[in-house]
Amino acid sequence: MDANDLEGWPGVLHREGRTLCRLSRDPSELGAGPATKAQGAVFHNPAVAGSRTRSVLLLQHCIEAGLIGQGTIYALDGLSASGLRARRWLNELPSESASRISATMGDMDPAALDWAMRCHDEFPPEHGKGVLLAHLGDLRKSVLEHGRHWVDIDPYGSPLPFLDTAVQSLARRGVLEVSATDSAALTGSSKNALLRRYGARVKTDGLAHDSGLRVLLANLARTAARHDRSVTPLLSVWDSHHLRVSALVTRGVGGANQVEESLGWRVASPSAQEVSTSISAGLHPETSLDSESLPMHCFLPLSVPIDRADKRFSGPLWTGPLGDTEAMASMTEERAIEMCSTEFEDADVMKWSEHECEKEKRIVLRSVRHISDEAGVIDAPHLILVDDLASWLGSGSPVSPSVMVETLREEGYRAAVSRYGKPAFRTDAPWDAVVSAANDR
Ligand SMILES: C[S@@+](CC[C@H](N)C(=O)[O-])C[C@H]1O[C@@H](n2cnc3c(N)ncnc32)[C@H](O)[C@@H]1O
Repeated sequence: MDANDLEGWPGVLHREGRTLCRLSRDPSELGAGPATKAQGAVFHNPAVAGSRTRSVLLLQHCIEAGLIGQGTIYALDGLSASGLRARRWLNELPSESASRISATMGDMDPAALDWAMRCHDEFPPEHGKGVLLAHLGDLRKSVLEHGRHWVDIDPYGSPLPFLDTAVQSLARRGVLEVSATDSAALTGSSKNALLRRYGARVKTDGLAHDSGLRVLLANLARTAARHDRSVTPLLSVWDSHHLRVSALVTRGVGGANQVEESLGWRVASPSAQEVSTSISAGLHPETSLDSESLPMHCFLPLSVPIDRADKRFSGPLWTGPLGDTEAMASMTEERAIEMCSTEFEDADVMKWSEHECEKEKRIVLRSVRHISDEAGVIDAPHLILVDDLASWLGSGSPVSPSVMVETLREEGYRAAVSRYGKPAFRTDAPWDAVVSAANDR
């Protein structure tokens, strides 16, 4: 299609990360949160910029760590809309990595693909490396036309309709990145939708978004197991209106057979018996079972019979780590700036001032905030919201997460401020130690 035939072209020049594109509407006119197609001829949601930045960084880590082989990497931005995600992979990866990428932008909207390709022609990768293709069609079908090492699913609403075929399309080892904007369902506010779609229930407490991520991972793990594969979560993030999980999917019946070992329940206000069961299952650190000092939550294995009417339970959900230590540790602020931000220059095509460059840098920094700090403790059983902790202990104003972390580390435990969207920390400390750290401050 000739660029002149594209509705809205040339639109508005825009930069996200280090990558230039054109949008049919000025993104500053769009509010935060889920955007709609009606907001422009081609869908673009500026609120998802952080997710795209993390996608670039995770892809680079997986290439460096050899997780997706040594040859050509077939990557699919399955629901690509403006194509900015795939274009950012190519442009922002270092040239040695980008030269291995054959990226496909898939969408059922021909205008979106034309728009994306037109942007690519006008602003090709700075280093000139990598291949970008467009594929028109319904992802549920088209994803099976080619094997992939990397598949990204970023739909309107729930990703479930796309999961089954996406998993089948993966190479022996591949990465699946999945976004969900039906967070009202996943976090338990829309109970019927949650049960209908994900076969789960979630208590709508402060940990609801963590539970939602775990329900999404449980569904991904079950889907993978149906196709003789297992999942290793690399990164799980709750970011404003959406939940997103990225996992390495590995073919092998052995791993698939063990799927239920990583699934279970989260119980709020557990009894001493439930905490004891959690400890025996290796899901909770040893702690006193004195009824006066029980933890706010614990996990239980899937095999424990639960009363479905008991509102304290969330699940079935993923009880294993929400991320991979090495993958998360690689997502430092330094690396994000180095790969995904723009330096001020007089000849800038967007004529950005130093101030505007700094503003975009801050957005890039925000997208990785706390991720590398949390890397060393992502397997820990406790995610503790400091407001909830203060209420639980009746101790008045909450202690800041960083103070709790410092105190617990001084005691020899692992602890880190969490990226979670509410003030919180993760730790492997026993509950008794958490209580004394909070009371000592
Ligand atoms: C939420 S947008 C994707 C946003 C994009 N990934 C980004 O980073 O900005 C969803 C896109 O999926 C496309 N779409 C919806 N259902 C589809 C299907 N079954 N197959 C292929 N594309 C589909 C829509 O046309 C739309 O462009």
